[in-house]
Amino acid sequence: MTIVTNTFKEKRNKIYIHSIIYGLPLIVLIYLYFYSNFFAPFSIPITSMNHNSSLLAFTPLTKEKEKPYEKLCDYTKGRWIRDMRGPLYNGTTCNIIKNKQNCIVNGRRDTSYLNWRWKPDECSLSSFEPNIFLKFIKNMNVAFVGDSLANNQLESLVCLLSTVSKPQRIRHQGADSTYYFASHNTNLSLYWAPFLVKGDQRRKDGPPYNKIYLDQVNELWAKNIAQMDLIVLSFGHWMDVPSIYYENDSVRGCFRCREVKIKYKDIGFYVAMRKALRITLNDIIERKVIKGNGLDVIVRTYSPTHFEGSWDKGGTCSKMEPYEPEEKKLKGIDADIRNLEMEEFEKVKEKAKQNGLNLDVLDITNLSLLRPDGHAGAYWNSFPFAKGIPKKVQNDCVHWCLPGVVDTWNEIFFEMIKKGKTI
Ligand SMILES: *[C@@H]1O[C@H](CO)[C@@H](O)[C@H](O)[C@H]1NC(C)=O
Ligand SMILES: *[C@@H]1O[C@H](CO)[C@@H](O)[C@H](O)[C@H]1NC(C)=O
Ligand SMILES: *[C@@H]1O[C@H](CO)[C@@H](O)[C@H](O)[C@H]1NC(C)=O
Ligand SMILES: *[C@@H]1O[C@H](CO)[C@@H](O)[C@H](O)[C@H]1NC(C)=O
Ligand SMILES: *[C@@H]1O[C@H](CO)[C@@H](O)[C@H](O)[C@H]1NC(C)=O
Repeated sequence: MTIVTNTFKEKRNKIYIHSIIYGLPLIVLIYLYFYSNFFAPFSIPITSMNHNSSLLAFTPLTKEKEKPYEKLCDYTKGRWIRDMRGPLYNGTTCNIIKNKQNCIVNGRRDTSYLNWRWKPDECSLSSFEPNIFLKFIKNMNVAFVGDSLANNQLESLVCLLSTVSKPQRIRHQGADSTYYFASHNTNLSLYWAPFLVKGDQRRKDGPPYNKIYLDQVNELWAKNIAQMDLIVLSFGHWMDVPSIYYENDSVRGCFRCREVKIKYKDIGFYVAMRKALRITLNDIIERKVIKGNGLDVIVRTYSPTHFEGSWDKGGTCSKMEPYEPEEKKLKGIDADIRNLEMEEFEKVKEKAKQNGLNLDVLDITNLSLLRPDGHAGAYWNSFPFAKGIPKKVQNDCVHWCLPGVVDTWNEIFFEMIKKGKTI
């Protein structure tokens, strides 16, 4: 796989331009977004755990699923087609959706973004079947590890599953939030770790840059690996922010250094992302060896953003329909990040396999890129136009409305599990 061949300088300029356009809203949005109303009162029904339940070894549920091995089709290539069936849930029937993604409840009227289905060129995605999904993850702890897009996907999945079984919010093994499906003794948790590795996020009342330790995974989630059965990794957006990188406790370089007046060498964020992912995957493999049986890991690829124009001049994502595949090619930052994720995945795939770890990618970059209409946009706020159309409205063109595009990520996730491919 080829990654960009531009010179370092070009690449850095590109990142820099990208950062001016995207940087602040990302950080502001992602930050605001995450730290609010996290814990509901909790209750803990105690049941036994079974950590042998690797999905690969899972016996097919019904006879007709016992087809000979089918190659999972390349679901990354395809197009969005009209489908009037509509989503399985909405903001009323599923009450866990974060306010900032609850677009319809926030007043979004154009609901046509809900009536699209992803159609891979070579096959069709089957519909999401919550009952079957729950059976697959029975007696498991599923951990979404990473940033607010990890949470976006978790909430979508919980809403999809909630259509057949109601979860409870509980506290569980240091997770930031957990949904417990008593019917199947399944926990779906979020572990906040925006760099995957150890680090401190930049903050309003602290340093204006991230501190990222590229050689140490974030123990806040990693110390719980022994209890996890399936991990979905999600990161990227928090890397594109001024940062200082450390390795062996000494400074390795920085990113967007000048903006925050730090004098180390600017090494861009691709290097850092690559290292962070590499150390994370290797560390998971090593811990898997100690843990023994039953662990599946999915790398969910980069979720693209869709700001048109600059964010501070009313940059919006106002397009109302998907792009045609010919109209929007995967390129620039989106392509570069996805490529490095794929490359790091390829590098450890064999090692993972030798150690009995099922590692796969959930490659959603391409299909999400074609959905500029699916973001929360202005509707990350409640009724943004209630008092007429203001001059400037801050748009969220990072996170996705629920229900919406992310449900398709979970349809593919379901497909992967069914085919026993991941996993
Ligand atoms: C789990 O797997 C181990 C070794 O693979 C086996 O000895 C043990 O009986 C299994 N436990 C259950 C509950 O299946
Ligand atoms: C993304 O989709 C387009 C259109 O279907 C396809 O031509 C391209 O190869 C895809 N890219 C990747 C990386 O899958
Ligand atoms: C949500 O779905 C329920 C049941 O299908 C329906 O009665 C309700 O009107 C929907 N609410 C919204 C806001 O679409
Ligand atoms: C889910 O979490 C609850 C609370 O921590 C725990 O009692 C239960 O055993 C967990 N389920 C699994 C499969 O680990
Ligand atoms: C970190 O320290 C270890 C042990 O001292 C050394 O082997 C390794 O090369 C160092 N790594 C870096 C990036 O300096």
